[in-house]
Amino acid sequence: MSDLDQLVASAEADFAAAAEPAKLEDAKARYLGKDGSLTALLKGLGKLPVEERKSAGAAINQAKVSIESALTARREALKTAQLEAQLATEALDVTLPGRGLPRGSLHPVTISLDRIEQLFRSIGFDVADGPEIETDWHNFTALNTPENHPARSMHDTFYLLGSDGKLQEEVLLRTHTSPVQIRAMLAHTDRHRDAATMPELRIICPGRVYRVDSDATHSPMFHQVEGLWVGEKVSFADLKGVVADFLRRFFESDDLKVRFRPSFFPFTEPSAEIDVAFMSGALEGRWLEIAGCGMVHPNVLRFGGFDPEKYTGFAFGMGPDRLTMLRYGINDLRLFFEGDLRFLSQFR
Ligand code: PHE
Repeated sequence: MSDLDQLVASAEADFAAAAEPAKLEDAKARYLGKDGSLTALLKGLGKLPVEERKSAGAAINQAKVSIESALTARREALKTAQLEAQLATEALDVTLPGRGLPRGSLHPVTISLDRIEQLFRSIGFDVADGPEIETDWHNFTALNTPENHPARSMHDTFYLLGSDGKLQEEVLLRTHTSPVQIRAMLAHTDRHRDAATMPELRIICPGRVYRVDSDATHSPMFHQVEGLWVGEKVSFADLKGVVADFLRRFFESDDLKVRFRPSFFPFTEPSAEIDVAFMSGALEGRWLEIAGCGMVHPNVLRFGGFDPEKYTGFAFGMGPDRLTMLRYGINDLRLFFEGDLRFLSQFR
């Protein structure tokens, strides 16, 4: 083997032995660098006799090309190896099952409210809305509960403080959804003021209401769904039919018992409490109160812009929190407001 061949072979061996790029560059310097052995040979060409220079130069250049290509090949190989090592450590096993995102769910009371809306829409009721900060007039006076009326003390009312820090007797957190009766009637009678025949008014109003009250079965904020149907020949029989039919559909139970028990509300006459009894399950045979109702009082119709000589109506106000507890067998109202996922995630 010629000296040049030996030089090329030893460069190739050194390159192959370099396990990382820095070592490879050191090895390169030993052959191709300023003081490298191949560089020295090239520099020495000038000292050769003229006749030998040409062929010696060609041979050295040939060796240089071989060494450079060995260097390039080794550089590539190290780069590929490094990339592969990196890929191996950062590898993702795309065949593993995903961890998934935890899925939220509707609150059980929201599920009930949606269901109640859907059932009443299916028999021609609209869904109305009203403010939770209400005037004393809408919440009491127009509902036939004038100032100093003893029925006002039935509700423990949250009144609001004005910017002067003083109690504002005129503004309160609504104690029931019944003020929406007044708002819906006024809007309806105003809209149809010039009509020869007034269309029937049929609404429900689901919403939050507030009373100064808090224990296992009472929360200072709770929900109600108001119902109101005003027309020319609306009767107590319609009230019974609509409510009983709704309750059987809501609880998906044909043998649910429904009872109307005489009661008092200032804004209805006659008035009743609505009780239900299940014919099976843990609460079998027990009467449970779930709503108040009655025929809309003539004074209330008048406050709403209806002529009580011509129109009659019924109204009810039910407690969807209670309905939800009964439907799902929940025994503590406070579970609804604690935000505990162990409870809430059961309603997916
Ligand atoms: N607003 C009454 C309450 O909160 C319920 C009710 C509504 C009664 C409509 C009769 C008619 O207790």
